[in-house]
Amino acid sequence: MTENIHPIFDRLLQRSDREQRLGQRSKVLWLTGLSGSGKSTIAQHLERKLHNEGFFAQVLDGDNIRSGINNNLSFSPEDRAENIRRIAEIAKLYLQSGVITINSFISPTKAIRAKAATIVGAADFIEIFIDTPLEICEARDVKGLYKKARKGEIKGFTGIDAPYEAPENPALTIKTANKNIEASVQEIVEYIFPLITYASNV
Ligand code: ADX
Repeated sequence: MTENIHPIFDRLLQRSDREQRLGQRSKVLWLTGLSGSGKSTIAQHLERKLHNEGFFAQVLDGDNIRSGINNNLSFSPEDRAENIRRIAEIAKLYLQSGVITINSFISPTKAIRAKAATIVGAADFIEIFIDTPLEICEARDVKGLYKKARKGEIKGFTGIDAPYEAPENPALTIKTANKNIEASVQEIVEYIFPLITYASNV
């Protein structure tokens, strides 16, 4: 399918040129966890925090992406895989542009996340497990979706009648149960700061 395609990546400005311009190292921060685990909220606060610290960061979020470029995809296992494949490709474009992305998607299986890491490149893919137990996500039920799933109004809901496989070896695990949002964000900031700071890696 790619026989008549001639990519020109090598003739474009390089990632290092853009990282230098932005004064940062780009990375793909990949937040995975159940619906209602706090991924989106953490992503928003982290984006703001990085922005205030002088970094150039962009959130890519499940509900946003699914209302735009991925609005033709369902929650079947195949479409979830395609959802994540496209997002990983988008995150890779940002990575090449020197931008730090904060990706907030359930990305429910190890295989799906492994594919994303392969697309992005393992060295730049930072897996962050937002570890909130199902009972807490369901008790919060911010969007009212767990209630619908329990009543059978939504089929194949992650954690109810569709699988969620926790990461075995994430770069970072954030246990949100007894922690406020600032503390969760601070843990991530402390971990990623050395990785995204320009001078320390030169
Ligand atoms: S993923 O599984 O393909 O990674 P994604 O992060 O894009 O999921 O979208 C998850 C969001 O879609 C949830 O936070 C929820 O608001 C909504 N949603 C709707 N139907 C489902 C479902 N069957 N399972 C999980 N989330 C769903």
